[in-house]
Amino acid sequence: MTDRRAFLKFLAGSPLLAGLLPLRDAFRQTADDVIKSPADALNVFEFEAAARKALPPAHFGYMATGVDSDVTLKANREGFSHYQLRPRRLVDVSRVDMSTEIFGTKWDSPIVIAPVGSQKAFHPEGEIAVARAAQSLRTLQILSTVSTSSVEDVTAARGAPIWYQLYSTNKWEATEKIVKRAQAAGCPVLVFTVDLPVGRNTETQEVFARTDTRQCANCHTPRPGLDYRRKPMFSGIDMSGLALSSPAHTWEVVKRLRDVTSMKLVLKGIETREDAALCVENGVDGMIVSNHGGRAEESGRATIDCLSEVIQAAGGRIPVLVDGGFRRGTDIFKALAMGARAVCIGRPYIWGLSAFGQPGVERVLQILRHELDLVMRQCGTRSLKEITPAYIADGWRRG
Ligand SMILES: Cc1cc2nc3c(=O)[nH]c(=O)nc-3n(C[C@H](O)[C@H](O)[C@H](O)COP(=O)(O)O)c2cc1C
Repeated sequence: MTDRRAFLKFLAGSPLLAGLLPLRDAFRQTADDVIKSPADALNVFEFEAAARKALPPAHFGYMATGVDSDVTLKANREGFSHYQLRPRRLVDVSRVDMSTEIFGTKWDSPIVIAPVGSQKAFHPEGEIAVARAAQSLRTLQILSTVSTSSVEDVTAARGAPIWYQLYSTNKWEATEKIVKRAQAAGCPVLVFTVDLPVGRNTETQEVFARTDTRQCANCHTPRPGLDYRRKPMFSGIDMSGLALSSPAHTWEVVKRLRDVTSMKLVLKGIETREDAALCVENGVDGMIVSNHGGRAEESGRATIDCLSEVIQAAGGRIPVLVDGGFRRGTDIFKALAMGARAVCIGRPYIWGLSAFGQPGVERVLQILRHELDLVMRQCGTRSLKEITPAYIADGWRRG
């Protein structure tokens, strides 16, 4: 076993490896070859197998699932292969600055922690462990409405303001209460997720759940969801008939949110130029290009493929962030080259959390930062401003 890991590490470091990636993937899939500590990880993918080993099948399935046949989930990864880099030579890259600025706040890196619900399903410390990792790496964290720790506790653990993600619910009184609570906790930005109006078909989750022998009802309702025992943001809210979203919502909700909060308003789940234009028209402050990590509708379209049309429609008037399938520094570089202000990651930090808690999340963030730093230097770019469409083949068409 040790020999095998040593061999794998040797292979990974070998310059001859380029053509052997499928072979390395095959090694990674072997059940007994799971990393034992965050320091062992060569890349963020290695945390996935460790998470699978650490989690009950139903919880792993909740994290891993896409919708229908998981076509969009896969498309998010495959989309990056549609773009190639154009590295420039003989540029002094001895110093690199990957800091970015969003709404007047400067961040050490453009890598952001996406909102993911129910994090105590992955590790007993859940969102608190993630907040501590975010604090140690001075990373922007977005907290889900369906978190298993409260916005107050997570903000305290983070030691600085976090952004708050909102599901707008089918009852305005409930929505308003949650928004006001997030604002009172000091959140400067409200991230309104708009891509789940009518539920979804998470078949992969069901398949994993079938193999789980434990009694779900011991910890939460048999079908996890708005279980207020585990969802502190719903305490004090009348849960009768409450749903996370409403099929009747229109841009009117954006106006209503504007009226009840002074937080900046970011819409998450934008995929088209038409909706990007409507965001600008409706006075939205920012957008996240997202298909919920392939967990909303089965569009079949990668978010990296949606990014350019949204950026063009935004026309530099509001910042555009993106998420969906980002696993490598090169993936992040491509989005930045197209004009994204920052990139959010979901599953990778959840893999790290599931397997190792706070140190796992930290290592995932460190690996992605290191890879981004490397590709910035390799391409001859010293700051995010220098990463322009010119660094992507045919980027002048796309940027
Ligand atoms: C297990 C899980 C739970 C999620 N929960 C939420 C949520 O509560 N609110 C939200 O806006 N997005 C949620 N998302 C979507 C993420 O914010 C993000 O869009 C997505 O994970 C990015 O894709 P990636 O996982 O490929 O990085 C969730 C994603 C996962 C995997």
